Amino acid sequence: MIDFTDRAFLADPYPTLNRIREETPLFAMEGAEGTSRWFLTRYDDVFAALRDRRLGRVPEPVMTREEVGLPPLRPDWKPYYDLERWSLLMLEPPDHRRLRQLVFRAFTPKRIEALRPETTRLAKRLISQVDSDGTFDLLSDFAQPFSVGVIAGLLGVPPEAEAQFLDWSHRIVKMYELDTTEDQAAAAVRASEEFDRWCRDLIVAKRAAPQDDLVTALCVPDAGSSALSDDEIVSTIVLLLNAGHEATVNALGNGLVAMLSTDRAWAAIRDGMVEPDVAVEEMIRFDPPLQLFERWVLADDVVYGGRSFARGEKIALLFGSANRDPRHFPSPDDFNVSRGDSSHITFGGGIHSCIGAPLARMELSVAIRGLAEAMPRLRLAATPVRDAAFVIHGYAAVHLTA
Ligand code: HEM
Repeated sequence: MIDFTDRAFLADPYPTLNRIREETPLFAMEGAEGTSRWFLTRYDDVFAALRDRRLGRVPEPVMTREEVGLPPLRPDWKPYYDLERWSLLMLEPPDHRRLRQLVFRAFTPKRIEALRPETTRLAKRLISQVDSDGTFDLLSDFAQPFSVGVIAGLLGVPPEAEAQFLDWSHRIVKMYELDTTEDQAAAAVRASEEFDRWCRDLIVAKRAAPQDDLVTALCVPDAGSSALSDDEIVSTIVLLLNAGHEATVNALGNGLVAMLSTDRAWAAIRDGMVEPDVAVEEMIRFDPPLQLFERWVLADDVVYGGRSFARGEKIALLFGSANRDPRHFPSPDDFNVSRGDSSHITFGGGIHSCIGAPLARMELSVAIRGLAEAMPRLRLAATPVRDAAFVIHGYAAVHLTA
C-alpha cells in the first residue's frame, strides 16, 4: 500500500499518509523478513496502542521468535544483538523498571533545566563559528556537533571520541529501517563490535577515576540503587548516545525547514511574539524525526481499528500520520508556530516513552533562540533534499543563508 523506498514518498510522505488515514484506520503489508505487519494510521489508535500493556516491544514475554514467524537469530549478527540485549527499548518490567529508574534520575525536568546555561553557551559558540556571510549546512555545521556535544557532556564522553561514536551510531541505526541491506547490516555489526569494546574501556576508566557524569552514575551506583552488570551498562550507554542525537538533529532540521517555509513564522520568533519553547512543540508535531515504531501483540482479542488481533501479530504505529490526524489537531497540515499543543505522538507514550524528551525540548528551544538572536534574517538557501530513509526521517542537508 505504501512503497517506503519511493523517493517522492520520502520527500513528502504526508499526502500519501493523509489519503490512507482518511480511507482506513489500518492496513497490512508484508515485511522484508516475511512476516506481515498492520499499520495504524489514526491518532486515537496510535495513542492507545503506545499505552496498551497487551502490546510489547518484543514478543519474547509470551512467544518465541519462531512462533511469531521470525527467522532464527543470525549468528553473524551476534555483536549487534548483544549490544541491544539490555537496551531499555528491548526490556519489559521488572528489568525495564530497574534500569529506567536509574537513567531517569539524570533526565528529570529540573536536572535538564540546570543544563540550559551550558547548552546555550555551546549553541552560541557553534553559531559564531558558522559562516554568517554565506550559506551553511544547519545539520553538519550546527545541529550535529550541538546535539552530540550535549549528550556527550551529560554522559561524560571525552570530546575527542565524538566523531567516532557518531560514525558507529549512523551505521547501527540503519538496522531500524524497514529495508536494511546486507551491506548496511554488515557495517552495523562491525560498528557494534567496535562500540562495545570502546564502552568497556570507558567503564574501566570511569571506575578508576569517577566523575560527576551519567556513565559514572551507571558504573558506580550510590547507596540507594542496585548495581548494573557491565552488559547492561554498555547497552545503556549505546542507547543514550544513539537516541541522544539522531532524532534531535533531524527534529531541528525538519522543524526549521517547516518554519522557514511558512510565512511570518521565523519573524514571530525573532520579534518575540512566540516563545521558542512554544514553537518547539509544533516543530516536532508537524514533521516528526521518527516516523514508525512497532509493537507485538501479546494477548488474544486485542482490537484496533475495528480488527481483532491475535497473540504474535505485529502492529506498526505511524507517528507522522497520527500527528496530522484532523480528528485530533485542527488544520493539521498548517504549520502553526504558536499552536503549542504538546499532545502530539512524537515522544511516544506509556512505559517506553522518551526519557530524553525534556533534554530534546530544551536543546531545540536553545537552538532556535540562539539562531534567531544571531541570524534574524535566516532563510533557506536551497530546497533541502531528503535522506533516503523513512523510520529515521530527516534531510541529507539543510543549506541556510544567515
Ligand atoms: C526530538 C528528539 C527525540 C525524539 C523524537 C525521540 C523519540 C522517542 C520515542 C518515540 C521513543 C519511544 C519508542 C517506543 O515507544 O517504541 C523514545 C524512547 C527513548 N528515547 Fe527518545 N527521542 C528524542 C530524543 C532523545 C534524547 C535527547 C534522548 C536522550 C538521551 C533520548 C533517549 C531515549 C531513550 C533512552 C528511550 C527509551 C525509553 C524506554 O524504552 O524506556 N531520546 N524516544
